[in-house]
Amino acid sequence: MKPVRLITATLAAAALSIPLAAPASADPAPDHRGHNHPGHAKPGTLRWAAPDDLVIGTAVAGGGHHLEQDYPDPFTSDKEYRKLLARHFSSVSAENQMKWEYIHPARGEYDFGMADAIVEFAERHGQDVRGHTLFWHSQNPAWLEEGDFTDEELREILHDHITTVVGRYEGRIDQWDVANEIFDSSGELRTEENIWIRELGPGIIADAFRWAHEADPSAELYFNDYGVEDVNAKSDAYYELIRELLADDVPVHGFSAQVHLSTQYGFPGSLEENLQRFDDLGLGTALTEVDVRMRLPESGEPTPEQLEQQADYYEQALSACLGVEGCGSFTIWGFTDKYSWVPVFFEGEGSATIMDGQFTPKPSYFALKSTLLEAGDDHGWGPPPWAGRDW
Ligand code: G3I
Repeated sequence: MKPVRLITATLAAAALSIPLAAPASADPAPDHRGHNHPGHAKPGTLRWAAPDDLVIGTAVAGGGHHLEQDYPDPFTSDKEYRKLLARHFSSVSAENQMKWEYIHPARGEYDFGMADAIVEFAERHGQDVRGHTLFWHSQNPAWLEEGDFTDEELREILHDHITTVVGRYEGRIDQWDVANEIFDSSGELRTEENIWIRELGPGIIADAFRWAHEADPSAELYFNDYGVEDVNAKSDAYYELIRELLADDVPVHGFSAQVHLSTQYGFPGSLEENLQRFDDLGLGTALTEVDVRMRLPESGEPTPEQLEQQADYYEQALSACLGVEGCGSFTIWGFTDKYSWVPVFFEGEGSATIMDGQFTPKPSYFALKSTLLEAGDDHGWGPPPWAGRDW
């Protein structure tokens, strides 16, 4: 979505605290004004603080681990969650609702209910959408993983999935994680775990990108993975594979790092350098699942030192993206500890996001906002009068 900015009007209105548009909770009619349009980007929010050429995103909570918790579906049930989702973010990613096990529950049967709701929400609130994900070794339904198919049948199943799902949202999803986590930490293809690569060979990766591009020529098509933040064997493997695919005119448009970090380990110091080399290939780059978990004390509450370290990691990750011209999308993997995947996956760890379980912003929230405001300085208007105020 192309941003539309009326900075003067916004600044004046904000200074006089004149509301520019109905609050997000009023669920305005669908419109396609840019993600930074004052009608969507309320003064003082993360999306408003961001420069024009960067969207600030979050995963939309639902499916996956949420199905095993004692709360209803967050996206459809939690009004406060939805209000903040609209207010602060100019991009959304389906946390689980576009994955095979959710959207393709039986052979030839699709369930688009939740994915449609997320895309429609995004359009009502001037948000980009990241589709996640078409080709992965995890969260595939049993009918697929345990089925007995010929290679031709399997190939057609993947072709039908990509054509149906990507085609349904043609022109409405800005970036797709076409292939997710296809290399292991040593930079070897997951030829055993990934059903598509195991049964159809590595050439199927290029076909997945070609089919996605045929289904929606306007969508940017990405590789996405964790543990590829630094220049290392895994990110090297992506770099070499993508160079080969580009040489064969395969429509690969971007490379993204998930950036799942922990305060127990160091920050990936070569992140910006790594993103830059993919940018130098002419690719877009993105940070797609940023969170910074920590081992919690007995109290279950993070210490001030842990929160400060977490804020520093968030700020370093955002700064790395801001430092690379083609890094236009910074997404956190959930904005509130209330719904984070981390405590479910990592016993004794948590507090990984930018707001606590009561939606109170943490130091990492303010670190992101101040970093965004500083980046926005190149507009010549500097931080708005409310920059230091509460959120
Ligand atoms: O499918 C099993 C089901 O058979 C079983 O009965 C049930 C209870 O144990 O668990 C189900 O697995 C769940 C899985 O989602 C599939 O629904 C796991 O418990 C649950 O923890 C898992 O959560 C999701 C996870 O991906 C799956 O890998 C999280 O909600 C989601 O945030 C997370 O997101 C991934 C990205 O897609 C890719 N990058 C890493 C990121 C974090 O893992």
